Amino acid sequence: MDKLFVNGGVALKGDVEIAGAKNAILPIMMASVMSKSSILIHNIPHLRDVTMTLQLLSKLGVKCKLNYLKSLSVEIDSTSLQSTSPDVELVQSMRASIMLMGPLLARYGEVKLYYPGGCVIGSRPIDLHIQGLQKMGAEITQDDEYIFARATRLKGAEITFPVVSVTGTENIMSAAVLAEGETIINNAALEPEVSNLANYLNQMGGKISGIGSNRLIIKGVKELHGAEYPIVSDRVEASTYLVAGIMTQGKVRAKHTNMNNFQAVIDVLKKTGAKISSGNDWVEADMLGKKPKAVDVVTQPFPGFPTDVQAQIVALNSVAEGSAYVEETIFESRFHHVSELQKMGADLKQVKNKVYSNGVKLHGAETIASDLRASASLVLASLVAEGSSVIDKVQHIDRGYELIEEKFSCLGADIHRLHDNHFIAKQKSVVGV
Ligand code: EPZ
Repeated sequence: MDKLFVNGGVALKGDVEIAGAKNAILPIMMASVMSKSSILIHNIPHLRDVTMTLQLLSKLGVKCKLNYLKSLSVEIDSTSLQSTSPDVELVQSMRASIMLMGPLLARYGEVKLYYPGGCVIGSRPIDLHIQGLQKMGAEITQDDEYIFARATRLKGAEITFPVVSVTGTENIMSAAVLAEGETIINNAALEPEVSNLANYLNQMGGKISGIGSNRLIIKGVKELHGAEYPIVSDRVEASTYLVAGIMTQGKVRAKHTNMNNFQAVIDVLKKTGAKISSGNDWVEADMLGKKPKAVDVVTQPFPGFPTDVQAQIVALNSVAEGSAYVEETIFESRFHHVSELQKMGADLKQVKNKVYSNGVKLHGAETIASDLRASASLVLASLVAEGSSVIDKVQHIDRGYELIEEKFSCLGADIHRLHDNHFIAKQKSVVGV
């Protein structure tokens, strides 16, 4: 199990290159199984979730070819697909596998999917995915392990989501592209990654309109062909590095990013007292050497404040001037970072789905990563804490942050990865934790 070793106290300064968005690339890779010829995706981040998706597709018989063109790219050819039953272990380890269900059903008429299950941030139900596909004519049965879905050809339907669901919208939209007739999705998710998928599907021959609105209209087509199309940059990665610059009282510029995709985050970062500036493909946060002010946040579906940046703000509030609260309205248990931050001396109090904070000085500690974004918040706190910290189980971080120690090192951080226990023992004597 890899660990990250961090010596805190350095004000981060410099530029960081933001990768393609994990949550944009995953649904596009899943939708590739619907194409009659290969698709090309550029600007792929080197992430565990991308690697696991490549493994999922390869085990179905799909040919995936990674190469470095202008950036890390992947060519996916599903004409060799031999199975519609994704690998159980991979499905269990990555909830996003659920996004194979719609595409496989739409293109091959059947899918046998192990239940992706929940994770530490919540039960992560998939009832809305199933109800939507059933409305489109799919026959779906479940036992306590598998979902079995069949459909000779899905039929267009009008589907209204009672709650906004990002992958629910993506799954139904993808399936609808090859359905017979017209599908309308009401209360569709507005996240930029959903629009990116819709634009990619249209490049493949899909007929989706209303992109960027909460009402999507999809006219079914007979088949899809290969395509290539730009991927949005990762607004969560960009937000994470800007928060790091603010927390360490430094100055960080996130490059290859589009501020319109995370305006709600920018508005909050301005309230910390940071000077925010931007160009056509970069955003910079300059804390001017001052301590940030604590900020109140309530997470909402896009364009509201993203739940994927909630943990990072809790970390910021832990070291900021004054008191504040963060309210999580999307997932029922997305505060696993709170107890870990408290090991570092954070003055945090959780009451139901709110975390109240008073800014203090943090000290180094040994913490354990749990889910992807909670892990990122532990790295941020360690960069500011007095002394050394070790963060365990960093495989969670590697799911969504490519080259995290390299990118932070380029900003001046004293951070590196520990691969084996022997080295850790040596470090511990230095760290004294
Ligand atoms: C997507 O998850 C993202 N993952 C998550 O990012 C993100 O946190 C989340 O959207 C919210 O923005 C990917 O895109 C791969 P939801 P998703 O369906 O689609 C309820 C990260 O860190 N719901 O929008 O699984 C659900 O319980 C990850 O990158 C149902 O009730 O989230 C939740 O309360 C974490 N039934 C709410 O909807 C369903 O069938 C929103 O969940 C589906 C969802």
